[in-house]
Amino acid sequence: MSDPAPEKKSHKLWGGRFGAGPTAAFDALNNSIGVDFRLWPHDVRLSKAWAVALWNAGVLTLDESQAIERGLAAVAVRIEAGEPILDSDEDVHTLIDRLLHEEAGDVASKLHTGRSRNDQVATATRLWTMEVCTRLDAAVRMLQQAMLDQAATLEDALMPAYTHMQRAIPVSGAHWMLSHFWPLERDRARLKAALKSAAVLPLGSGAVAGCAYPVSRVLLQGTLGFDAVSPNSIDAVSDRDFVAEVLFSATMIGTHLSRLAEDLIIYGSSEFGFVQFGEGYTSGSSMMPQKRNPDALELARGSAARMLGSLVSLLATLKGLPTSYNKDLQDDKRPLFDATDTLLLVLPAVSGALAECTFRRERMSAAVSSTMMATDLADYLVRKGATFREAHSAVGKLVRESETAGVEMQRLPMSSFSSAHPLFTAGVMDALSAANSVAHREVEGGTGPAAVRAQLEAARMALLPPPAPRSSNNVVAQP
Ligand code: ARG
Repeated sequence: MSDPAPEKKSHKLWGGRFGAGPTAAFDALNNSIGVDFRLWPHDVRLSKAWAVALWNAGVLTLDESQAIERGLAAVAVRIEAGEPILDSDEDVHTLIDRLLHEEAGDVASKLHTGRSRNDQVATATRLWTMEVCTRLDAAVRMLQQAMLDQAATLEDALMPAYTHMQRAIPVSGAHWMLSHFWPLERDRARLKAALKSAAVLPLGSGAVAGCAYPVSRVLLQGTLGFDAVSPNSIDAVSDRDFVAEVLFSATMIGTHLSRLAEDLIIYGSSEFGFVQFGEGYTSGSSMMPQKRNPDALELARGSAARMLGSLVSLLATLKGLPTSYNKDLQDDKRPLFDATDTLLLVLPAVSGALAECTFRRERMSAAVSSTMMATDLADYLVRKGATFREAHSAVGKLVRESETAGVEMQRLPMSSFSSAHPLFTAGVMDALSAANSVAHREVEGGTGPAAVRAQLEAARMALLPPPAPRSSNNVVAQP
C-alpha cells in the first residue's frame, strides 16, 4: 500500500467526503498542472465571465461579482510575474482558485457555484484551441508566401517532373513549387473548420447535466467570443472532436511539410544539384568538413511522425470512453499541445529554409533529357492522324534505339524516325524541345506558361487578407 502524502494544508476543490488525503503516488499521477498550466489566461477570462453570469443570474451581488473580477485580475498579474506553483496545486483551475482566495478572501468560494471543472476545462481548452488555430494559420500563410516568392522566380525554369521517381515530363519550376502551395491552402481550410468546431461554448453545462442557476449562456457565448452554445450538456463535457480535428489538420500539415522537405533534400543532393541550401537552417558535420546538412528540413520530416502519434493517441483515448467526462480526457491536452508546439517550431524553420534556397536553373534544365519528350513525340503523331496506341509503340522503338546507341533522341538519324513511323517528318525535332513540350500544356492546372501565370495569380489571391466585415454604420451609399 502506498503511503499517504505528508500531512500539509493544501488547497483542494474537493475532499469533503474523504477521510484521509490522497497518496503521493496518486497525486503524482493525477496532477496535471505541469501540462495544463498554459491554459491560465483562458481560465481567468472564463472565470471573470462566469462571475458576471452568476451576478446576472442573481447568485452573486454586484459587489461580490466585482470583487471576484478584481481578484482574478490580480491573480493574472501574479501568474504573469512568475508566481511559484505548489506541489499541492492539482491543476490550473485549482491554482487559480487558490490564488483567488488569497486575493479576494472568502467571496472566492462562491465562484464555483453552478460550474464544474468538467465544463471549465472544456471551455478553457476550446479557447486555447481557437487561439492556436489562428496562430497556425498565420504560420502556414508565411510558408505559402515563401513558396510564392520562390515560384515567381522559377516561372520559366525548366525541370523534370517525376513519377515513380523516374523522369517523366518537363515542367516549369514554378509549377513544381506551387504543387506544394495548394495542399497548404487546403490545410488552412481544415484549420478554419477546426476553429469553427472549437468555437462552441460548453460553459453552463456543469458537471454533466447543466447548471441549476439561470445563467445566460448566450451572454457567456458573446463575452467569450464563441460562435454557438453547446446543445447538450452531456455531450459538451465529453466532446473532444475539436481536438481531433486540430490534430488531424496539424498532422496533415506536418505530412505536407515532410513531403516538401523530402523533395528539397533530394534536390539538394550533389546527384541532383537543383537546390543549394543556405546557411541559416543547415548544420555542419563534426567529422566531415565539407558537409552542409539540411537539418531543418530533416527535422520537419521527422516531426510529422510525432504529430501522427499525437492524433492516434487522442483517437485511441476517445474510442472506448463512455459519454460524459472521464478522467482519461485529461490526456487530451498532452497531444494537442505537443503537436501544435511542434508545428509552430517547424513552420517558421521550413519557411526560412525554403526562402534561403537557391535554385540552380542550369542543373534543373540539364536534367531534362530528350526521352522525357516521348509523350510529345507520340502527340505529334496523333496530331498527324495516328492513333495514340500506334504512336506509343513507334516512339517506344525510338526510345529503345536511343538508349542502345547511347545518344539523345535528337541525335538519331531522320531515317530512324521515318522507319519508326511514316508520319514522322523533319518538323519532328520541334516536338523534342522541352520548351515546346511545356508550352503545349495550357489546360487549366497544366504547366503551360499562361496556365502557370494564372496559377501564380490564383495563389496570390489566396493569400490576400479576407475583406474586413462591413460594420452597419459604415455602409457605402448606393448611387
Ligand atoms: N484537470 C482536469 C482535466 O484536465 C480538469 C477536470 C477535472 N474534472 C474532474 N471531474 N476531476 O481534465
